[in-house]
Amino acid sequence: MKDPSLRRSVALFRGFLREPSDPGGFYALLARDAADQLERYEPLAGRVVVDVGGGGGHFTEEFRRRGAHGYLFEPDPRELTATRPPPEGAVLADGYLLPLADGTADICFCSNVLEHVEDPGTFLSELVRVTRPGGLIYVSFTNWLSPWGGHEWAPWHYLGADRARRRHERRTGRPAKHVLGDNLFRVHIGPTLRQVRARDDVAVLSARARYWPFLPELVTRVPLLREFATWNLLLILRRCP
Ligand SMILES: C[S@@+](CC[C@H](N)C(=O)[O-])C[C@H]1O[C@@H](n2cnc3c(N)ncnc32)[C@H](O)[C@@H]1O
Repeated sequence: MKDPSLRRSVALFRGFLREPSDPGGFYALLARDAADQLERYEPLAGRVVVDVGGGGGHFTEEFRRRGAHGYLFEPDPRELTATRPPPEGAVLADGYLLPLADGTADICFCSNVLEHVEDPGTFLSELVRVTRPGGLIYVSFTNWLSPWGGHEWAPWHYLGADRARRRHERRTGRPAKHVLGDNLFRVHIGPTLRQVRARDDVAVLSARARYWPFLPELVTRVPLLREFATWNLLLILRRCP
């Protein structure tokens, strides 16, 4: 599907709404979409692609389907097996300390993990370390002020994280998956862009709203508005030689 386009965004949103009943279908769709985005920069066939915090491995499977050498690194065994058995060779590993030599990956892929780590700058440094000079880094995250920033307790996070989480727990009768300051952190677009642009080991090829149907790069340029309207920031970085 053409990216950006209204058709693609609507298909992704519909898949997202169906995620509770059909997680496999949604993640397979998202994986095809992310692989298409990557292939606008590099063919995947023959490339070493490292998927950090890759959950159940839908992205790794799609990369392999397209001929890449895909490797999945995920620290949480429950995430690995949440929807079905993980792909062969999946490694239980923390993204802060990947069991990989410097410059191993042609492409380092990290989707929707940054908002789940306490120190995104250090985490990003590890992604850069394992990527070869000239290689690509795909990083996306849901920023805190996005309508989905509070994850399962969104959009009530705008009224305070504790209140939103308690409300969710009251309504569902179950403990919330995410707790602010434990496994969900306030990550903002402006400071993240400034941090990444200040690095001398990566060049920013694209900073865009990952799911937007039109002008996805424009929205990330408008201070304040971008914190609410971007939803999910996608950074495509090139590791400097
Ligand atoms: C919202 S899920 C995203 C899964 C998948 N990448 C995707 O886009 O669908 C967040 C993932 O980040 C992982 N994660 C959290 N902390 C991590 C860390 N320190 N290193 C690597 N992965 C981590 C979680 O275990 C979880 O699988």
